[in-house]
Amino acid sequence: MSDKTRSIHGEWSSRFAFILAATGSAVGLGNIWKFPYITGQNGGGAFVMVYLACVAAIGIPIMIAEIMLGRRGRQSPINTMQSLSAEAGADPRWHYLGWLGMIAGFLILAYYSVIAGWAMAYIFKAFFGGFFGTDAGEVKAIFDGLMASPIQQLFWHTLFMIVTMQVVMRGVQGGLEKAVRFLMPALFVILMILVAYAMSSGAYEQGIEFLFSPDFSKIDADAVLTAMGHAFFTLSLGMGAIMVYGSYLPGHVSIAKTTFFIAGADTIVALLAGIAIFPLVFANNLEAAAGPGLIFQTLPLAFGHMGGGWLFGVLFFVLLFFAALTSSISLIEPAVAWLVENKEIERHRACVWAGSACWALGVAVVFSFNIWSGHKWFDKNLFELLDYLTANLMLPIGGLCIALFAGWTMRQTDTEQELELPEQGFQVWQFLIKYVAPVSVFLVFLHVLGVL
Ligand code: TRP
Repeated sequence: MSDKTRSIHGEWSSRFAFILAATGSAVGLGNIWKFPYITGQNGGGAFVMVYLACVAAIGIPIMIAEIMLGRRGRQSPINTMQSLSAEAGADPRWHYLGWLGMIAGFLILAYYSVIAGWAMAYIFKAFFGGFFGTDAGEVKAIFDGLMASPIQQLFWHTLFMIVTMQVVMRGVQGGLEKAVRFLMPALFVILMILVAYAMSSGAYEQGIEFLFSPDFSKIDADAVLTAMGHAFFTLSLGMGAIMVYGSYLPGHVSIAKTTFFIAGADTIVALLAGIAIFPLVFANNLEAAAGPGLIFQTLPLAFGHMGGGWLFGVLFFVLLFFAALTSSISLIEPAVAWLVENKEIERHRACVWAGSACWALGVAVVFSFNIWSGHKWFDKNLFELLDYLTANLMLPIGGLCIALFAGWTMRQTDTEQELELPEQGFQVWQFLIKYVAPVSVFLVFLHVLGVL
């Protein structure tokens, strides 16, 4: 085999691996758990419109930029920003962007792991037939029971953290990509089955109308910020996760096409989850604004009543667990990589340290749902505070910096060379990354602060 053949084969498989890893990172609890519940809290249609607009006009151009930075820098985010700012003759302080991302990922994982723990708990509840024939009241009681129990939640949170760190310890490559390759289509199929069930629920049209007919009087500046923040969250943007993954991407691969695929898959999964859930909400007179428990209080009703519900219930929560796992890995990887690179400790130890610290913060998050639920800052419990701080502030600020760096600081010849887009495509991207994305993020912030 000549060198050339080998390298071509290697590169093809890396591109595929990248798409799988990045899609695995993007599709997670954000799509299936968070998107429906924040849509319910923010009145539906108009919120969904703003979210979709943010994905298209801000998320996609920033994802292209973030992957590009990773591929050009080819190191961990902090070091990538250092070398790219040197290359552009810019301020070395750009590398603080890497720090911001590392801390954001760490804070997100602390509560992400707790919610993933709920999904694990539900695998067993489904397995032991807990949802069979239940009504809305019983399903709510099951969820409230889990919320009230720090012990159960701690158990599952701890287990999820151990599994995540085991995978990270072995390195992100390996069995995981193969798993994603099979899990993503499986998740898609089961969502389709749930959508079919929702169609027969009697309130399908009401659900669709809630999701897709916008009433802009229902949203305020804070809702717009939440929608924008969620566009970053669901695409895993603004903290360097996609940047790290992008650093393994071969030179000739079209970054734009890859981005469209990832963003498309991510959006479809979120919309399918919404289409499956809201008809159930209305058919059972549940509250759309129920909050973080929404999917746990609606989908079990479907599993308890549909044909094959036992099997689909178990499968669904298993797939949700895997979707959460492939996302969690990308949340902690930057911190682990940094510890290995800069503190000169082995990967194994870095995992133990980073994982333990994250776990400890997660313990406090568990308590925020029960024994510490009275402790509030700015009217938010610890879970809500961490979520707001990361998704609504840190990720958009990170994304804003990425846009400014890619649009204004890097030399145009370099970005052109890296993206290899057709002339017009490049101009569209450049316009979005220079003006539309940063100005939008900035305006939303000003609006929330009450300046506008
Ligand atoms: N995108 C994932 C989800 O929707 C969560 C996630 C993984 C993430 N990695 C990230 C969010 C990096 C922000 C930044 O569930």
